[in-house]
Amino acid sequence: MENSLAEKKDLTIVAVESSCDETACAVLRDGVILSSVISSQIEIHKAFGGVVPEIASRNHVVNIEGVVNAAIEKAGIRLSDADCFAVTYGAGLLGALLVGVSYVKGLAFALDKPLVKVNHIRGHLAANYLADPSLKPPYIGLIVSGGHTAVVRVRDYLSFEYLGGTMDDAVGEAFDKVARTLSLPYPGGPEIERAAKGGKPTVYIPEPKTKGEFDFSFSGIKTSVINFVHGARQRGEEIPVADVAYSFQTAVCSMLSRAAVKAAKRYGCSDVAVAGGVGANGCLRETLSDLCLKNGLKAHFPTKQTCTDNAAMIAMEAYLQIRYGDGSAFASDALDAKASLPLV
Ligand code: KG4
Ligand code: ZN
Repeated sequence: MENSLAEKKDLTIVAVESSCDETACAVLRDGVILSSVISSQIEIHKAFGGVVPEIASRNHVVNIEGVVNAAIEKAGIRLSDADCFAVTYGAGLLGALLVGVSYVKGLAFALDKPLVKVNHIRGHLAANYLADPSLKPPYIGLIVSGGHTAVVRVRDYLSFEYLGGTMDDAVGEAFDKVARTLSLPYPGGPEIERAAKGGKPTVYIPEPKTKGEFDFSFSGIKTSVINFVHGARQRGEEIPVADVAYSFQTAVCSMLSRAAVKAAKRYGCSDVAVAGGVGANGCLRETLSDLCLKNGLKAHFPTKQTCTDNAAMIAMEAYLQIRYGDGSAFASDALDAKASLPLV
């Protein structure tokens, strides 16, 4: 049954995402999104300053049925019209992932349809094809999410080479921790971006030493921001929040952009595509676009809404797996969730 899907016209995929604090479902037909519904738990987790895993799982349980039904209705299909189902099975919070995996396994079993397992980070990269269907490998992928930071060479739709990545914190994690130090709410990324407006680069941000030329280190940067803020507090000085946010954001976006452009030039790629939540950051979008332009390259970004977690990107990655894969993405009913999963 699965193999026949590779050639199927109007291939209809119903995909679910529940790896962190967004419950999402999308319907994709022949590579085009018919509907994408996201129920965010951000307001719930804000009170705790970050995502509380057990609360996230419980809210997925509460929300998943309504989210799937809303996506189906919006797309104007019935569940039985799906040719297959897809679900994020890692990486992410284990309990949160298990809700989506169990629910979609149930649907696939009840309706006797194939199930495609999707790697969340590959899904983030696939969001680029939704925003710009003309993007084709090879290109350089810059992965900048809450849990991952890496530079990869995308050789083909399903073939990746890891070139480098963070040696410690992920970049989204650094945004969130710096925001917390500045007493800004969760999630920190958008708050830092807002706070940086009107700021000046007056706070020194050290350029960390890394092992490989496409590696990053954000924990030293985070520590120097924390030390600066604590020092100012101890001296009874007012914290220059806008300047701290601006200095941190500018330095980080510059490091990420320089590494991605260097990789593109090294490997003769003319395109750089960004993946993950930090890709919604205006400073990163501007810095990378400018640097690409100066070097005769093109920068690609998902829409701001598909930078952060959603199921449209999961459906797109499932579509690529079905069209171009060797069948290994089809899952049996023994599919389990994985808290960590390698990208390549
Ligand atoms: O990709 P994502 O939605 O979830 C993971 O797969 O991890 O990324 C979430 C991360 C959070 O750390 C959040 O602070 C960051 O993306 N983020 C941003 C922005 N929007 C979300 N960081 C910087 N600027 C933003 N506008
Ligand atoms: Zn994500």
